[in-house]
Amino acid sequence: MSPSPASQGAPLGDLQNAIDLALFGALGDLAMRKLFPALYHLDREGLMPESTRILGLARHEHDVAEFRQLVNSALQKRLKKDEQDKESLTRFLNRLDYLKLDFTSFEGFDAVRQWREGSPRPMVVYLSVGAKIYGDICRNLQASGSLDDATRVVVEKPIGFDLASSEEINDAIGDVFPESRIYRIDHYLGKETVQNLIALRFANPLFGTQWNQNHISHVEITVAEKVGIEGRWGYFDEAGQLRDMVQNHLLQLLCLIAMDPPSNLDADAIRDEKVKVLKALKPFTGEALGRDVVRGQYMAGTSDGQQVPGYLEEEGANTESQTETFVAMKTEVANWRWAGVPFYLRTGKRMPEKLSQIVIHFRQQPHYIFDPDQRGIAANKLIIRLQPEEGIALQVLTKDSGLDKGMRLRPGPLHLDFNNAFPKSRIPDAYERLLLEVMKGQQYLFVRRDEVEHAWRWCDQLIDGWNARETPPRRYPAGSWGPVASIAMITQDGRSWYEDY
Ligand code: BG6
Repeated sequence: MSPSPASQGAPLGDLQNAIDLALFGALGDLAMRKLFPALYHLDREGLMPESTRILGLARHEHDVAEFRQLVNSALQKRLKKDEQDKESLTRFLNRLDYLKLDFTSFEGFDAVRQWREGSPRPMVVYLSVGAKIYGDICRNLQASGSLDDATRVVVEKPIGFDLASSEEINDAIGDVFPESRIYRIDHYLGKETVQNLIALRFANPLFGTQWNQNHISHVEITVAEKVGIEGRWGYFDEAGQLRDMVQNHLLQLLCLIAMDPPSNLDADAIRDEKVKVLKALKPFTGEALGRDVVRGQYMAGTSDGQQVPGYLEEEGANTESQTETFVAMKTEVANWRWAGVPFYLRTGKRMPEKLSQIVIHFRQQPHYIFDPDQRGIAANKLIIRLQPEEGIALQVLTKDSGLDKGMRLRPGPLHLDFNNAFPKSRIPDAYERLLLEVMKGQQYLFVRRDEVEHAWRWCDQLIDGWNARETPPRRYPAGSWGPVASIAMITQDGRSWYEDY
């Protein structure tokens, strides 16, 4: 069991957290866009012990100076001006080494062992490469004698394409590393507001007693993206929005909303509760598949006032593709806490804006005493905004002010905007938090093997159902909130998607 995050009081930057980071795929998009900026921030904020070293590994021929230059340019592009200071940049770049390596061939891995030789620090192996070669890299590292009993491995999603392929990949990693040293990333778990869900739910008795089917009527989770496919057509077309976003990010959010209180903050206590939710998710069978799930694919439309192509007209597209770029669904967690409470999920590309939010709709008062014409006024809602601005709002009903208003009701928010409430603290990127937890050896923000597999099991039955029905995705114009059927799906229950963006 990893140490509890509750015991994280030790000063950050503590030497115990020093690591040797071996980053496979160091010239890739994720490394340049997210990982190096995140590592730089950790260093700049004094959270990276002085002796920490970073080895970038990739297939291309570069010497260390060239590699540092590439990382430096990526940082200049990503960091805000006031985040770049010469001293921090120089210190960070000086930590970097580079090794050209063919990841799938054993030859050359001896150089990793040599890089590690004599180091007192644990090695963290970060696999920012396709999951198909996770097994090769793990085996080569082991065979070259580069690993020891303290080495941790970090892997990115997607872990597989379905349950069978994810089991294969997990087996290959598991042949080399025990589960306690495998860190599976779902970067949504690194987002500040997502962690705040744990605090909100389990530190506030106010919500603790209300968090069930007696008080909550339904839950909405929306993860909308403005972008389209962004040059990833090949990858995306094999995956689709269900595998790319629902199997991981949306189900993780759903688990954090729906799980029972863990007995403590240990990684396994939290993950045990999440697994129970995944196991309790109702499968889509028979009629429910047509009624409660909507798949969509975007057509040409407008985004930010600009004309943008449809999914089938994107560069590299196969014009026959039936892959979904949007999914909306109504599901249920079939247990005592949530029986009868619909969870409406939706996620899509080319939506009008980037918006991730969870809305918890509370039930109406059991007995109503105000003007009958206001009866339809919404009950309390808790709105948890992940992006763009992270924050939490509780919508309450108050009396409308003014002598002429009588006892008229008006909904208004009690608002906690993280940027305003904590103006001094920069909201860190998800990868900063996750990399920091890996450095500390804390697993509570990482996904355990059984979570990944239960999530696949649930998605697989849905995909099998789709395949059997052969229904093409419904079209929606880029820049809209998805197919009309996704709106009808919720309105037929007498509800609507929360729209106060
Ligand atoms: C990734 C998906 O996991 O998450 C992408 O593969 C998606 O398709 C991205 O764009 C969204 O992440 P965020 O943090 O921008 O919401």
